[in-house]
This record gives sequence, structure tokens and C-alpha cells, in this order.
Amino acid sequence: MEHIKNYINQHQERFISELMDMLRIPSVSADSKYKDDVLRNAEFVKKSLVEAGADKVEVCLTPGHPIVYAEKIIDANLPTVVVYGHYDVQPPDPLDLWDSPPFEPVIKDGLIVARGSCDDKGQMFMHVKAFELMMKTDALPCNVKFMIEGEEEVGSSNLGNWIRENKERLKGDVILISDTSIIANDIPSIDVGLRGLSYVEVEVAGPNRDLHSGVYGGAVANPIAILCEMISKCKDENNHITIPGFYDKVLTLTKEEREELNRAPFSLDEYKKDLNIDDVHGETGYTTLERTGIRPTFELNGIWGGYIGEGAKTVLPSKAFAKISMRLVPNQTSDEITKLFADHFNSLAPTSVKVKVTPHHGGEPVVTPTDSIAFKAASMAMEATFGKKPIPTRGGGSIPIVALFEKELGLKSVLMGFGLDSDLIHSPNEHYGVFNFLKGIETIPVFFKNFTDLSK
Ligand code: BES
Ligand code: MN
Ligand code: MN
Repeated sequence: MEHIKNYINQHQERFISELMDMLRIPSVSADSKYKDDVLRNAEFVKKSLVEAGADKVEVCLTPGHPIVYAEKIIDANLPTVVVYGHYDVQPPDPLDLWDSPPFEPVIKDGLIVARGSCDDKGQMFMHVKAFELMMKTDALPCNVKFMIEGEEEVGSSNLGNWIRENKERLKGDVILISDTSIIANDIPSIDVGLRGLSYVEVEVAGPNRDLHSGVYGGAVANPIAILCEMISKCKDENNHITIPGFYDKVLTLTKEEREELNRAPFSLDEYKKDLNIDDVHGETGYTTLERTGIRPTFELNGIWGGYIGEGAKTVLPSKAFAKISMRLVPNQTSDEITKLFADHFNSLAPTSVKVKVTPHHGGEPVVTPTDSIAFKAASMAMEATFGKKPIPTRGGGSIPIVALFEKELGLKSVLMGFGLDSDLIHSPNEHYGVFNFLKGIETIPVFFKNFTDLSK
């Protein structure tokens, strides 16, 4: 382990400044005006992998944003770790809530502040630097392949096809991903589950044009009011989702499994204080950890319609819209849930309006094994570098591609993330601790060594 610490001590300033260079590239995958920047970021990843010593480094174009592939095969008889990460980021909006511009990274109180600093450029780049470290110190113990994509934040739809077309070149023994959180810097943890996602947009259309709210109001359906009524019918007073069939396939955990999950350190008081709320809100009968870890949800992400400019305008709008996401748990599937939702939503519509449901992207839930060599290797690596055995936890977010890796490549993933839930990913002032960045670079080579040793 000495070689790891020494190399990091000698090169940490450069690691951080290289990461900051990448954070200056606004690689927002959702917005086509950033298309060239996303490509520029792919080229940046390519260049850093080449410099670190990877072979066959390639920017693979897709109908969407590119995937960067690279590999270092030292011996076909040794195991192969496939590293996955993403270089695309969420839109930085709302810009006025940032204390410093989202694509002008700064270090403040030991935190690297920029969009993508934690999710996932900072975490992905730990793997590039850990690989550089292993190459330069002659300590790469097995083969490695990199698959770094630019469409994770928009559902990874092209990566799915690309994986199917590149099965041969992606052969390996495990997928290693750093794109999740730990409980705290002194309480390491490893996510062993991710939720799936069904994301839809709905439109409720009333009259064929915006109307005078006095001349027509009271006699014609108001699409905003109807939309709100329809949405409120999707949950009951216990915050239980009322879509028929929604829970049919939900895997229920045993009493022991629930107890185990709730043993993870968690303070409801601190949680509320951090969010400045007087109370939490969710499905009756479940704890906060269960509500985010093992239960499905129905959430509104945006809702609009009518006049929202300055002052008052008396208008009865023609249309109203909402973006809705449902987080899924094993064994729900996104196609099925999207269909159940669409049928239900259509059935709720009064004859005075027309409803359109447009599916966006989806993703399937996963549970990763805790009895595998790879999980042991990760657990032992974190124990070595944090000085404490990591706790298995369930993450509430989604990484759509993880289920596909298993389906298409037969490969299980290890979710060895180093972020914190308080890193404000997807929010203004996203940041990533210098501590976490360096801790990741320190831990990854230990994982490689453990995984290789345990595979023998
Ligand atoms: N890295 C996150 C997922 C995540 C964060 C998992 C924290 C566990 C803990 C990922 O980049 C993400 O944001 N995924 C999206 C899904 C996507 C289809 C937009 C999500 O979860 O909303
Ligand atoms: Mn991510
Ligand atoms: Mn994300």
C-alpha cells in the first residue's frame, strides 16, 4: 500500500487540476446546444486514458453521445475488471442559485464545486487516475477495460445497443462503478441495490385555445385543475400509489431483511435539519430508509400550464403538462409500470379533456450480490483505506445500465461509490470532497489487488 500513498502524495495537485480542467467542459447530455461540448469531453477522457497508459482507446460514436472505450490487457489468463462511468452531467439550472458558475470549478473548504464534480466526472476520473497509478508503479494486477459513456443522465439508450454490438470486446469478470454514495466520510458503505425508473410526460388538453377566464370560466374544463385532480387520485391518504397492479410484482422483504436495512446509521433529526423540514412525508408503515431503498415511488418533477409571467392574466389555458417519475424496485419492470400508469391516467380523465401520455426513458431495478468475490474485494478494500468495514445499503437513485450489463453480458456490478448524499448532485452548488476524490484513488488499486488475489 505504500506505493499507493506515495504516488498520490506526489501527484494529487495534478490529479485535482486535471479534474478541474474536465469540469470546465459543459457536457450536458440533455440539451442539444451542448452537443459539441459533450464530444469535447469524450475527447478529454480519451486523452487522459491514453496518457495513463491504456491501449485501443477509442471515442465510439453513437446516434446520441459517444462512448469512450479503452483497455489494458496484460495477460488473457488473469481476470478482467470492466470499469463503467459517465462523463455527461445534468443541466446546471437554476443558474442564479449557484454561488460560483457551474462550469468554473473552485475549491472551497476542501470541496471541489462544479456541475459533475461528484456525479460522475469526479468519481469516474478516480478510476482513470487509479489506473495511471497502477501503470506507473508497475502494480496493475489484472486486465482492465473502460466504458465511459455520455448519456447516463438521459437514460443510456444508445449504450444498450452498443453493448449488444460489442459483447466480445466487453468480456470480463465484473463491472466496477463509482457513481453512488457512502453514508459519511467516517462510515463507509456500498450500495447493493438501485431503483429502476419509469419517466413519463403527460398532457391534458381542454379547449382548442386559451380562453377568457371570465367569459368561459366555470363552463369549460380547466386543464390545470383537471391535471391536479388526476394526479391527486394517483395516491391515497396513506401515500400508497393507487395505480391498479402497481405493487403486484414488488418484492417484499422479510422482517429480518428490513431490520438489517434499518440498522444502518441514520438520524431522522439530522435529515430533517439538513433539509429544513419539520417532518418527512411518505408511505405509511415504512421508515425513511425503506421509503428510499426498497419501496417504489410516484413523484412529480415538473408541472406547468397557463400564465406564469409577471402580474395577473385572466386566462383559462388550453393545456396543462406534468413530468412524472416512478422509481421502481425488484421485480417491477419499467415497460409494464409505464403501461399501467398510462391506462390508469387515461381512465381518470373526464370526457371534457383529452389526455396524452408520452414515455421518456426507463431503467430496471437491481440488487447486487454481497456474497461474490468482487463484493468481498470491494468491502476489504474500503475496510483497508477507511479503517472500517463498509455497510451494505440500498441506494434510492437509478443507473439504468446496471440491469442491462447483467442481462446482456451476464456480468454483476459492484457499486463502490465515494460521494455523499449531501454533495448536491443534480442541484446548484454540486460538490465533491477532495478527501473523497483521493480516497477513491487510494481504494481502487486495493480493489484490483484483492479481486485478482481472490480470483486465484
Ligand atoms: N449517479 C446517479 C445515480 C445515483 C446517485 C444512485 C446516488 C445512487 C445514489 C445517476 O447519475 C443518476 O442521476 N441517475 C438518474 C437516472 C437517469 C435515467 C436520469 C436518476 O437516478 O435520476
Ligand atoms: Mn451518476
Ligand atoms: Mn446523475
